Amino acid sequence: MEYAILLHPGHNRVYFETSKTLSVSELALAGESLSSPCQQVQVEEIASVPYVTFQTAKPLQESDFLLLGQLSFVYALFEKAKTDKDILLHPIACPSLGYLPESIRTILKYTGKTNELFTRMMIQVARAACTSQTKGAPLRLLDPVAGKGTTLSEGLLCGMHSFGVEINADTVHEAYQFMKKYLETAKQKHETHVERISGQNRSFTAKRYTIDFAPDKESMKTAPLHWELVAGNSIHCDQLFKKNTFDLLVGDLPYGVQHGSKTTSKNNKRPSSITRNPSELIASCAPAWRKVLKPGGVLALAYNQFLLSFEEFAALLEEAGFTVLKEEKYRQFTHRVDQAILRDIILAK
Ligand SMILES: C[S@@+](CC[C@H](N)C(=O)[O-])C[C@H]1O[C@@H](n2cnc3c(N)ncnc32)[C@H](O)[C@@H]1O
Repeated sequence: MEYAILLHPGHNRVYFETSKTLSVSELALAGESLSSPCQQVQVEEIASVPYVTFQTAKPLQESDFLLLGQLSFVYALFEKAKTDKDILLHPIACPSLGYLPESIRTILKYTGKTNELFTRMMIQVARAACTSQTKGAPLRLLDPVAGKGTTLSEGLLCGMHSFGVEINADTVHEAYQFMKKYLETAKQKHETHVERISGQNRSFTAKRYTIDFAPDKESMKTAPLHWELVAGNSIHCDQLFKKNTFDLLVGDLPYGVQHGSKTTSKNNKRPSSITRNPSELIASCAPAWRKVLKPGGVLALAYNQFLLSFEEFAALLEEAGFTVLKEEKYRQFTHRVDQAILRDIILAK
């Protein structure tokens, strides 16, 4: 069988060309878990429009279309057939999970927001490498540097319980207010909870905002989705969450452009001065990140190669007990965002 995917037009113009290659890399990884794995994944022009095309040995099923519909670059999916004269594209509907309207991705705009399609790609690439999932249960996703929660929204749209930690308390409060208002406006059933938390002997303080929601009363009782954002320092992840909680840990590290990295020593409540280089943040937080990630779970972090090399980043993660995924198929995501940012993703188990 042959299929063609029309690329999402929302990819950042600056890296639109590269985004085609990124899409092929994303599909090559995600396609491994389809009922009939993808072969010959490539970019192909049909009537001067670029598509990502691929083949499978057997026809794909409904569950495959659900997975494909969640990939970051998929705008429309077609079954592809050739006649003597023509290429025919037959549209296939990708089912939606229906928990949230897609508009949640784009309404909130702010300086420092990570592109939502890029965020979706990180989640999907991490999911493709993840082996920790309990059958039937939604994946649990944590963004340890969450900002206003782009990763959380993308996780929810993919049917995952989504958690985040963000050091800036105002940012967290704003994200919570937005989420609450959004669910009210969308007339979704939801329950909110806010609590202050502190470490042993008040070694640190934080504030936890949670929202459980569902599209209707029945699913609110049986299968609500969970949104949770903690205003606190990522260094304390292992005290904010139980050991082995998360299947995926996905985030966009500070770039030293819009945001700095903020760290403290474990016993110091006050953040140290903002550093341009994220090494300090990674070195101090990675041991806690490792504890909250399940065995078989995957970490996927975006970073600026102009500030930190892949090798330096890998060494910091390995020191904390992670196994960095170094195979070629996991190393295809480098792209230029602007003059100051050469963005890449590192994946580790
Ligand atoms: C590139 S931004 C993430 C933006 C986010 N993906 C979004 O779209 O809103 C990095 C975030 O890391 C946060 N941060 C820096 N150091 C941190 C730390 N030690 N603990 C938690 N968050 C931290 C910054 O405040 C900033 O919001």
